[in-house]
Amino acid sequence: MIPMFKIGQQMEIAQLYMKDEGSLPTGTFKARGAAVGVSKAKELGVQELAMPTNGNAGAAWSLYAARAGIRANIVMPVDAPEVTRKECAVSGARLYLVNGLISDAGKIVAQGIQDFDWYDASTLKEPYRIEGKKTMGLEIAEQMEWKIPDVIIYPTGGGVGLIGIYKALQELRNLGWIQDRLPRLVAVQAEGCAPIVKAWEEKKRESEYWHNASTVAFGINVPKALGDFLVLEAIYQTEGCAIAVDDTSILEEQKRIAQLEGSFVCPEGAATFVAARRLRENGWIQEGETVVVLNTGTGVKYPYTIQAKPLILQPGESIEMELHKT
Ligand SMILES: Cc1ncc(COP(=O)(O)O)c(C=O)c1O
Repeated sequence: MIPMFKIGQQMEIAQLYMKDEGSLPTGTFKARGAAVGVSKAKELGVQELAMPTNGNAGAAWSLYAARAGIRANIVMPVDAPEVTRKECAVSGARLYLVNGLISDAGKIVAQGIQDFDWYDASTLKEPYRIEGKKTMGLEIAEQMEWKIPDVIIYPTGGGVGLIGIYKALQELRNLGWIQDRLPRLVAVQAEGCAPIVKAWEEKKRESEYWHNASTVAFGINVPKALGDFLVLEAIYQTEGCAIAVDDTSILEEQKRIAQLEGSFVCPEGAATFVAARRLRENGWIQEGETVVVLNTGTGVKYPYTIQAKPLILQPGESIEMELHKT
């Protein structure tokens, strides 16, 4: 949990914290689900599993499965971050690319499960992955010394992270470890793929399939989440909200965070900062409130989101000479 003083000051949120998932194994919060999901699969004697993914979950599950001696079959969209393909490949997983979205990958996996009797590790099709994601909620409470924040902002694709955080906080309250009212949970989506935001705006309990989904924040490019009703329930119960942000703002914010705070966050993480900024501007976040944003992965996994423009020097040239030329 990292205090974000400078950017917080700029947004007029003095108590802004980033829960940074970028330093986890495989560089994203997906390691949490894989740690518990693969361990339970191993305990249950699973030998071969399969899952659709937007990249990061496939990378995490491939590597954790390799360690457990379980064979992994991963199906991801061709547009998923390229490094996640390599993480699957290096672990020896069987990798399939589909010229479509995660929903298309899901259909292929469902058929594979029928044909080959694989263990279904798809989002919310097995019960353990969410228990791993829940640890984000447990750690937020623990690391804030059991004084939970007013607002938690999460980049929402399949929504398991948000559902997991909500489950953790409810359990902590039932145990009496936290007394306060639960934080208002905020689901952030991209303007190019915002089915949960639309459903929330229309006060619905479920979302509708989002056509032509597209965003630079690839992890949240999910046109219809299986657990959408659980995400919406968590938002309604905590008096939270759902908000869509545009790709240009996400990429600008990603640079601003690096330049002010020295942290290279993933675009999904940057989206939560844009949401915090917007919600403070429109007064939904009030002065003095404590806000936690989730950076769900390291920006290093998305190198193409940043254009480096170095000065090119020939051997023997000095920087001074080059500056004269330009
Ligand atoms: C970096 C990143 N952030 C957020 C998400 C969305 O996660 P969830 O399915 O918990 O909504 C993903 C999913 O792929 C992701 O890779």
